Amino acid sequence: MDPANGMAAATAKAAANAIDAATAATAEAEFARLTAGLGSSAKQDVVQRAIDETLKLRAGKQPAYHSECVPLLYLLQYQAKQINLVYSVIKRMTLYRRALGRNACGLTTSGGGRLRIIDVGCGALATQFAAALAAADAIEAGERVAAISVASRDNNPSMPALGWKMWKEFKLAVKDDSALASLQEAVERIHADCFERASAPFPEARQDEDCWISAIHALYDDNKSDVRDSLARAFAANPDPDAAFMTTHNSKKSLMRGLGPFDKRLWAEFPQKYEHSVRIPDDYPLRRTSEWWRDLQKELGLLEKRGDGAALQGAGYWRWADAACRLYLRPGKNV
Ligand SMILES: C[S@@+](CC[C@H](N)C(=O)[O-])C[C@H]1O[C@@H](n2cnc3c(N)ncnc32)[C@H](O)[C@@H]1O
Repeated sequence: MDPANGMAAATAKAAANAIDAATAATAEAEFARLTAGLGSSAKQDVVQRAIDETLKLRAGKQPAYHSECVPLLYLLQYQAKQINLVYSVIKRMTLYRRALGRNACGLTTSGGGRLRIIDVGCGALATQFAAALAAADAIEAGERVAAISVASRDNNPSMPALGWKMWKEFKLAVKDDSALASLQEAVERIHADCFERASAPFPEARQDEDCWISAIHALYDDNKSDVRDSLARAFAANPDPDAAFMTTHNSKKSLMRGLGPFDKRLWAEFPQKYEHSVRIPDDYPLRRTSEWWRDLQKELGLLEKRGDGAALQGAGYWRWADAACRLYLRPGKNV
């Protein structure tokens, strides 16, 4: 299989099922932890507050990520979509590498290669999951994958902490599925650094490491200057990365412009709309996640209260809202 193409259909479904299982198991354990000792009405309030808070994202604002069940609700609503988005961006890099004649990145290696990913505003580690999917494609295509280390930064530690719990569940789910041998190998190639607050110094990629800098849906009107500052520090530590990419909602794409130390002509800007060939199908269900969420809403009487659970309509699928992406690939190396 061509590594620029998406996964074989059977592998994509098995990978999607593993992410679904990991999301549901993480959500269940996290909800039990956060609401231990609470009665039904208090649980309902906590969930309702988190629903209202995450709805702010639809208005282009940041929710209070540090608060109660907000990271959990983020995971339920957005994690699969964001993984799919970053996966498609990474796959795009492979296509662009060919079109632009640039060295894409270093996901694959002829032997002994290392890749360092610096993820600014990492949230629940969507980029790390997506790198695993893209690495699995490369392995299926007969390529060797670099040893990947991911330095994730977020100014709300509860988001990567939850992502890390999900990563552990994901590893277990992948291990159990014989259809996912390539993903098992990919996951083993990924080393996640300890998470640091956004203000911590950014690591410098070593001489023998390729480097990506990413910022996926981290930029909002109300945190623009903070994220700019974080990205400026990431680029200052790594002024010559092999690749950089960032995404945001399409209507906010102007926020991404002017970021990064390179001439603007070196950035490709494209909408990430419906690239079916390089992503998990939009309508493939997150069956276990959706079931868990529906059962919880039933148990707490939220379905009756909200009618159809409208706050999470569109959750439980891999489809993302209209996103824009900027991609930089270091010029100069022919492939
Ligand atoms: C919408 S979430 C996206 C998370 C993840 N990249 C994804 O695609 O799922 C935005 C994340 O950016 C983080 N964030 C906001 N401002 C930040 C800053 N100045 N530095 C680092 N992280 C920031 C938030 O805490 C949140 O976890």
